[in-house]
Amino acid sequence: MSERTIALVTGANKGIGYEIAAGLGALGWSVGVGARDDQRREAAVEKLRAAGVDAFGVPLDVTDDASATAAARLIEEQAGRLDVLVNNAAITGGMPQEPTRVDPAVIRTVVETNVIGVIRVTNAMLPLLRRSASPRIVNMSSSVGSLTRQSGPGGERTTGPVSAAYAPSKTFLNAVTLQYARELSGTDILINACCPGFVATDLNGFRGVRTPEQGAAIAVGLATLPDDGPTGKFFEDAGEVPW
Ligand SMILES: NC(=O)c1ccc[n+]([C@@H]2O[C@H](COP(=O)([O-])OP(=O)(O)OC[C@H]3O[C@@H](n4cnc5c(N)ncnc54)[C@H](OP(=O)(O)O)[C@@H]3O)[C@@H](O)[C@H]2O)c1
Repeated sequence: MSERTIALVTGANKGIGYEIAAGLGALGWSVGVGARDDQRREAAVEKLRAAGVDAFGVPLDVTDDASATAAARLIEEQAGRLDVLVNNAAITGGMPQEPTRVDPAVIRTVVETNVIGVIRVTNAMLPLLRRSASPRIVNMSSSVGSLTRQSGPGGERTTGPVSAAYAPSKTFLNAVTLQYARELSGTDILINACCPGFVATDLNGFRGVRTPEQGAAIAVGLATLPDDGPTGKFFEDAGEVPW
C-alpha cells in the first residue's frame, strides 16, 4: 500500500477541480484526476505532472455506475486505499431555468450529475476510504444552495439567478452531505460541503470574480482536516454557510 496520501478529485480536468488536484498534489499527495473525457484527462495529468504533482488518470463519468465501479477498481489496484474523495464534478444544466418554464429533463440531468453522481461515486469509493486512517470526503456545493441566503435580502449578488435545477441540486447535495455525516458519525470519516465563491470558469462563462486557485482553497482545507475536525457542515472561506 502507498505511503503517500491518496486523493481522488472528480471533474479534475479543468476549472476548480484541476486546481484542487494541483493544491493536493503540492502537499506531496498522489492525486487521481477523475475525468470523463480521455483527451482532457490526459492533458490535465500531463500538466499536473509537469508541475511536479504525482498525478494519475482515473476515467470517471459520475453519471455511470460501471464507470464509478471501474474507477474504484483502478484506485484499489493503484493504491490499495483512498484517503480523500473530493466530489467536485457538476453541471448547471444551462440558464435560464426558471421554475415556471424549465424543461423537467434539465432538472433530471442536473440532479443525476450533481446529487446522484456524488452518491454513486461516494458509495463506490467508501470501501477504499474505510481502509484509510483519516478518511475525508469533500462535496463541492455552492452557496446558491443555501435556503437561508436565498430567502434573505441580497438577491442575485449572493444567490445567483432564479433556477429550478442548479441551485436546488446544491440544496439537495447539502442535505445528502448531512445524512452521510449522520450515518458515518461513528467512523473516522469526516464529510463536509463547501462553496468556492464566484469563480471564473466554463460553468459561468468565466463571469466569476475569483480565480480557480482561490476557489480550490476551501476544498483543500477540508481535505486536510485534523481527526477532530468538523463533519456534516457547509463552509466557505469566510466560515460556515447557513443551510
Ligand atoms: N465556478 C463557480 O463560480 C462555482 C460556484 C459555486 C460552486 N461551484 C462548483 O464548483 C465545482 C466545479 O465547478 P467549475 O466552476 O470548476 O466548473 P467547470 O469548469 O465547468 O468544471 C466542471 C467539471 O465537472 C466535470 N463534469 C461534469 N459532468 C461530469 C460527469 N458526468 N462526469 C465527470 N465529470 C463531469 C467537467 O468535465 P468536462 O470537461 O468533461 O465537462 C469539469 O471537469 C462544481 O461542483 C460547481 O457546482 C462553482
